[in-house]
Formats: sequence, structure tokens, C-alpha cells
Amino acid sequence: YVQRTLAIIKPDAVQKAEEIEDIILRSGFTILQKRWIHLSPEQCSEFYSEHSSKIFFPSLVAFMSSDPIVVMELAKENAISSWRNLIGNTNSHKARNLEPESIRAKYGRDEQRNAVHGSDSEMSAEREIRFFFGRSIVEPIPTDQ
Ligand code: CMP
Repeated sequence: YVQRTLAIIKPDAVQKAEEIEDIILRSGFTILQKRWIHLSPEQCSEFYSEHSSKIFFPSLVAFMSSDPIVVMELAKENAISSWRNLIGNTNSHKARNLEPESIRAKYGRDEQRNAVHGSDSEMSAEREIRFFFGRSIVEPIPTDQ
């Protein structure tokens, strides 16, 4: 069934945003909503709160608040796993070995600067879409793509 997911083009890849959006559209996703935004460190800490105990958390927050990002609400059949498959392994080096055609293989640099983000479950997709777009409702979900 048609799902929604949240995609982020991170600071290390925003200069490639148009190329990445092309890949997204050619892969059959519909971009329901899109925003450019420069998050504060506080907003990044809230967005990534599930990682707050990780050793890389302060560095992740600094990175994600360093420059503007592009956030998009995507729709597609099985959008969550479909987008996660398209972006590849979290670690860009591993992505280059395992999924050389993935977005992180092409545009990511390392474990942290990995070009893009994708929601990992329906629960996080809902939370993350609401985080950036509030409760705005876009109906109906286009089903012809
Ligand atoms: P993302 O999928 O947005 O979810 C959490 C982010 O934390 C991840 O992408 C990376 O940007 C970052 N991250 C995950 N693991 C590490 C790591 N081991 N070292 C540094 N950053 C990481």
C-alpha cells in the first residue's frame, strides 16, 4: 500500500539537491511536501533524540545544524523500505561496497556525512513528518505513480 516517509538531504549533499531529487522522482516517488530549513542545534537534538546517548551524538548535532538541509515528505508503494533501499547503508563506505548504485554510495562521504536520511518505521515516519510539516494534511495520496 502507499506509504509516506520523511527524506532529508543533509548539509554535505545540499549542493547536489537537484540531482538527488531527480533520482527520487525517477524512482517513482511523489514529493508531497518540500522545505529548505536551517535547523538549530536544539532542533537537531530533538529530531535525533533517540541517539542522544551515542558517542557520535554531539558531532551529529553539530553537523546537521551546520548548514541548511532539504526535507521532503515522499509517497510511494512501500515508501519506507523503498527509500531505505535506495539510500543504502548508513556508512557511505559500506554503501559503496554493498550498494554501489545507492544515493549514499554516490553522494555520501563517511558514517556521519552520509548525504541523506530516511525514516526507519511507520512510527518514526509519522513523527518525523509531523516534526517538519506539522499536522498539515495532503489528500489524497497520488496512487498512479
Ligand atoms: P541517519 O540515518 O540520519 O540516522 C542517524 C545518523 O547518525 C546517521 O544517519 C548518521 O548521519 C549518524 N551516524 C550513525 N552512525 C554513526 C557513527 N558511527 N558515527 C558518526 N555518525 C553516525
